[in-house]
Amino acid sequence: MDLTAKLNELARRNQEAEVAGGAQRIKRQHEAGKLTARERVLFLLDEGSFEELDRFMVHRCTDFNMQEQLYPGDGVIAGYGRIGGRLVYVFAQDFTVFGGSLSETYAIKICKIMDLAMKMGAPIIGLNDSGGARIQEGVVSLAGYADIFLRNTLASGVVPQLSAIMGPCAGGAVYSPAITDFTIMVRGTSYMFVTGPDVIKTVTHEEVTKEELGGAQTHGSVSGVSHFTADDDKSCLTLIRELLSFFPSNNLEDAPLRPSHDPPDRSDESLNTIVPAAPDQPYDMKDIILRVVDDGQYLEVHEDYAKNILVGFARLGGKSVGVVANQPAHLAGVLDINSSLKAARFVRFCDAFNIPLITFEDVPGFLPGTQQEFGGIIKHGAKLLYAFAEATVPKITVITRKAYGGAYCVMSSKHIRADINYAYPTAEIAVMGPEGAVNILYKSELAQAKEPAAQRQARVEEFREKFANPYVAAARGFIDEVIEPRFTRKKLISALTMLETKRDTNPPKKHGNLPI
Ligand code: HXC
Repeated sequence: MDLTAKLNELARRNQEAEVAGGAQRIKRQHEAGKLTARERVLFLLDEGSFEELDRFMVHRCTDFNMQEQLYPGDGVIAGYGRIGGRLVYVFAQDFTVFGGSLSETYAIKICKIMDLAMKMGAPIIGLNDSGGARIQEGVVSLAGYADIFLRNTLASGVVPQLSAIMGPCAGGAVYSPAITDFTIMVRGTSYMFVTGPDVIKTVTHEEVTKEELGGAQTHGSVSGVSHFTADDDKSCLTLIRELLSFFPSNNLEDAPLRPSHDPPDRSDESLNTIVPAAPDQPYDMKDIILRVVDDGQYLEVHEDYAKNILVGFARLGGKSVGVVANQPAHLAGVLDINSSLKAARFVRFCDAFNIPLITFEDVPGFLPGTQQEFGGIIKHGAKLLYAFAEATVPKITVITRKAYGGAYCVMSSKHIRADINYAYPTAEIAVMGPEGAVNILYKSELAQAKEPAAQRQARVEEFREKFANPYVAAARGFIDEVIEPRFTRKKLISALTMLETKRDTNPPKKHGNLPI
């Protein structure tokens, strides 16, 4: 077939673009419970807004009879469109064409829209469903991946990047989603791993299924690689639209305002009783968050991973905010390796994209033990400290109960440039909890006491009275105001409004050396 005939043939097929890799393969895709790449793009974007680029590009491989198998677009749909009226760039890997595997031209198409997104300052959304590097293309395919990884890295902190995993994503291909800001996996149909079950069995004799190794459940709750789990393709795409509504299009803009009818000065009596009087009694910090934010709407990130800390997006007075909160209902809200990593990455995202940070604090400290120390809690905990300290967005903290030890410093304290720090009257700010402190300070006294239990209790009460309250910190100005819980929303919105014009910078440098 000469070139003109080939192009005519492609043009004909293009008229039936929904055919992609063929009716049979599309049927298989649907039977697997998945939408096709084109169906996904059209569902994701505002109706009628999709403009496809490079629809006629085909692969350049001359080996393995590949010239007989030309598909217009070559296995990836790329272009731009609108979400909520705002410009976005999108690529969708088409599993019906060579298993969505990545060729040289396929990578060129993705890189083109990534370059445009960076120039225009608009988010990049990748819908992944691919068998990885196109085997027939060898190193040019690997080069294509590296070209994408470079752009993911350069775009990081410039435009939001979202990855949906809607099928296989294996080998080095996983590193593009890993660099992007948020990864969403679809339950039951998606998986991610560096090496699959067969290779694992050969190398380590370990037997594991694809789902156990890299399914949505694993990455959503065990590894933390995935930030969200969706039940099917449509809910995944709907979630992307919702997530984007909290973000600005790029690092030079603010997130769009979404005014609500929820009064900014709304008080909530029930907030006064959520934090239990007993310091060791658990409560759900989400109850506080939901009562404070606009319309009780809070989009939780990493819901099933490191549950001892909560991170998510909400709005206050119509403004997008990132919420970071210790969760006393899980492991008493202690900071450990996973919760530090989870929150640190979230804080850095918010800071990169001008989203103010609201911190709710109730933390008994860092989790003690060999497991944590051997695992490097020192360097991982330091990431959260670094992230909060480096952040220049408006930072407001509310201490609801415990703020003990190093964790007090880490959780957006005044000392690391939080702008406004509130405390509830129930707050306890101290080097450690009263029991631990008394055991150390009065060790010999208690050893000699006639009634050690009563003596210990008296000392604990004394310590609590003296240190386990917010007033010592407030007397120093480390706490700006001790507030009644029912006024939390009003106080936060007032502070946020005051901080609207905040200007703060870090010293000039190439980049800091985050303890990675
Ligand atoms: C070319 C591929 C392909 C690939 C799949 N196909 N993967 N073609 N290169 N990498 C083709 C198949 O030949 C088949 O073509 C069609 O896609 C669908 O594949 P099936 O195997 O029939 O589908 P399924 O049973 O659903 O299995 C999907 C799969 C499996 C699990 C993805 O195909 C697979 O294991 N593929 C190889 C994955 C892999 O090892 N890739 C390299 C990873 S390393 P027909 O014509 O029959 O429809 C890597 C390095 C990246 O990617 C490096 C970055 C630095």
